[in-house]
Amino acid sequence: MSAATVALNGVSKHFQLPGQRLEVLRDLSLDARPGEFLCLVGASGCGKSTLLRLVLGLEHADQGEVRVGEQPVQGPGVDRGIVFQDHRLFPWLSVEENVQLALHRSSLGEQEKRARVRHYLQLVGLQGFERARPDQLSGGMAQRAAIARALVAEPQVLLLDEPFGALDALTRQRLQEELLGIWKRTGATLILVTHDIDEALYLGDRVVVLDSRPGRIREVLDVDAPRPRERHDARLAHLHRHILGLLADQA
Ligand SMILES: Nc1ncnc2c1ncn2[C@@H]1O[C@H](COP(=O)(O)OP(=O)(O)OP(=O)(O)O)[C@@H](O)[C@H]1O
Ligand SMILES: [Mg+2]
Repeated sequence: MSAATVALNGVSKHFQLPGQRLEVLRDLSLDARPGEFLCLVGASGCGKSTLLRLVLGLEHADQGEVRVGEQPVQGPGVDRGIVFQDHRLFPWLSVEENVQLALHRSSLGEQEKRARVRHYLQLVGLQGFERARPDQLSGGMAQRAAIARALVAEPQVLLLDEPFGALDALTRQRLQEELLGIWKRTGATLILVTHDIDEALYLGDRVVVLDSRPGRIREVLDVDAPRPRERHDARLAHLHRHILGLLADQA
């Protein structure tokens, strides 16, 4: 898997509600470098999911441009994968069928597809559960299956929208470690949205703090703590207080 730059250049986006024009993002410019782990934090409704949907190609910018690698984004493609807060697996399909579905447009042969699916289920630690249905998995396992589904087409860019939001603290930490391992092994560019400042600081090379209404960049912070990181690193605690201050300013 290779990595790609994700670039937003002067992006604005609004939604038209009955009797109201909702300005969601205004003139937003942001780059994720190839192979970078970028985290986004910001108040609820500030446009984080909209930003990911623009990169995924599910929404189109009113103004400005979104590029992945050299290409302007015109719609969804296999170069980008996404994991949502809820796993969104089909309940009537097994775990492996759910993951393999992400390869339906792939030119790989049946056997190669099955091998690929097995590889990614192993990568997320779900070996032995290939035939299970989603309702037979724990929340953390279902989320792992969703990560495997996002990875199986070997995207250059992995987008994660509060992927661990619904999990207990311990499972969340475990999956954070796994995500770091997957990032290292795949070399993909990762953009993760989270409400958990500690999570953003533990995982990200940089943390982007967004302002709301309309969504704009408030500050981009370099997380200068070396990896592997110590969750109680004083540098992270300092950045945490700084981000809290930025978010409190908006309230
Ligand atoms: N398809 C849509 N039609 C109309 N309004 C929308 C649509 N999608 C999002 N919005 C509005 O755009 C704003 C930003 O939504 P978005 O989901 O991007 O926020 P968010 O930062 O992800 O919030 P949260 O942290 O709660 O997930 C919200 O006010 C939302 O109501
Ligand atoms: Mg959201």
